[in-house]
Amino acid sequence: MAPRHYLQFRDLSRLEYEHIFERTGWIKAQFKAYKTYQPLADRTLAMIFEKQSTRTRLSFEAGMHQLGGTAIYLNTRDTQLGRGEPVEDAAQVISRMVDIVMIRTFEQDIIERFAGHSRVPVINGLTNEYHPCQILADIYTFIEHRGPIRGRTVAWIGDSNNVCNTWLQAAEVLDFNVHVSTPPGYEVEPERAGLYGTGHFEEFSDPMQAARGADLVTTDVWTSMGFEAENEERQRDFEDWQVDADMMRAAKKSALFMHCLPAHRGEEVAAAVIDGAQSVVWEEAENRLHAQKALLEFLLLGAVEARAPRRTTGKRVKR
Ligand code: CP
Ligand code: NVA
Repeated sequence: MAPRHYLQFRDLSRLEYEHIFERTGWIKAQFKAYKTYQPLADRTLAMIFEKQSTRTRLSFEAGMHQLGGTAIYLNTRDTQLGRGEPVEDAAQVISRMVDIVMIRTFEQDIIERFAGHSRVPVINGLTNEYHPCQILADIYTFIEHRGPIRGRTVAWIGDSNNVCNTWLQAAEVLDFNVHVSTPPGYEVEPERAGLYGTGHFEEFSDPMQAARGADLVTTDVWTSMGFEAENEERQRDFEDWQVDADMMRAAKKSALFMHCLPAHRGEEVAAAVIDGAQSVVWEEAENRLHAQKALLEFLLLGAVEARAPRRTTGKRVKR
């Protein structure tokens, strides 16, 4: 049977997300209580990074370890991938030695080609086009704080990048709305975003209008990895697309602020917002760990039911 991959948000259905969010809550509760849950003993995750990372590497590596398995870090610099070994050949070899693969790379086409030649599930740890693991954690975080996301409004302020595209796909799968405001010339490209065109997003030239009445305001860096050559131009073009206190006031009183991180205070977000009361960025980052553990469990074991874990004893710091 062909393996199940997670290459973009729409690769899973609404019902599968509901299951994964439920499992995320359960897995998180076990972690917080220092209860051991190791269903992935003997399983190995290969993590291939062609771009830098703090959160993605750490959450997958720690998560795999906590589930009883092992994670191996590979990067382009130290592997034959950096010397031009075809991605199809690398996929054949790597997927014969491990049980699951996570890749962070440039074009989506690279990960699609890898997955097409892989015997095991492949997870997108960020491409130029998408960042599904991020939005998996973000939506879990929203649900934790505010309940179901269905019918809610998310305001996206800034670049129509990989994170934005993934929010737009998520809106179609989970039936919520996205208000997008980008500077002229940086508008959403529905085909690149991989949208079905179900009318779940609206574009605003004025970011304040986009934020109006939103349940969640979110943004990301003005210059993503791989686009550094455009940095100077982008600094000018995005100047008016900063999420600041005024913009948060335009949103609902109960609105949350999220950012996938790393953030640049004074550029895409004001310090008062990211460090303010509506910001849930640290919970959001932590939830990468819990949500991805549920994703690994789902891709490797299918839809498992809750299990009674073993409680460990001894003194611990509060997780
Ligand atoms: N948000 C995110 O993916 O962070 P890293 O680039 O540190 O992995
Ligand atoms: N859009 C950013 C996200 C980093 C986690 C980038 O691709 O660099």
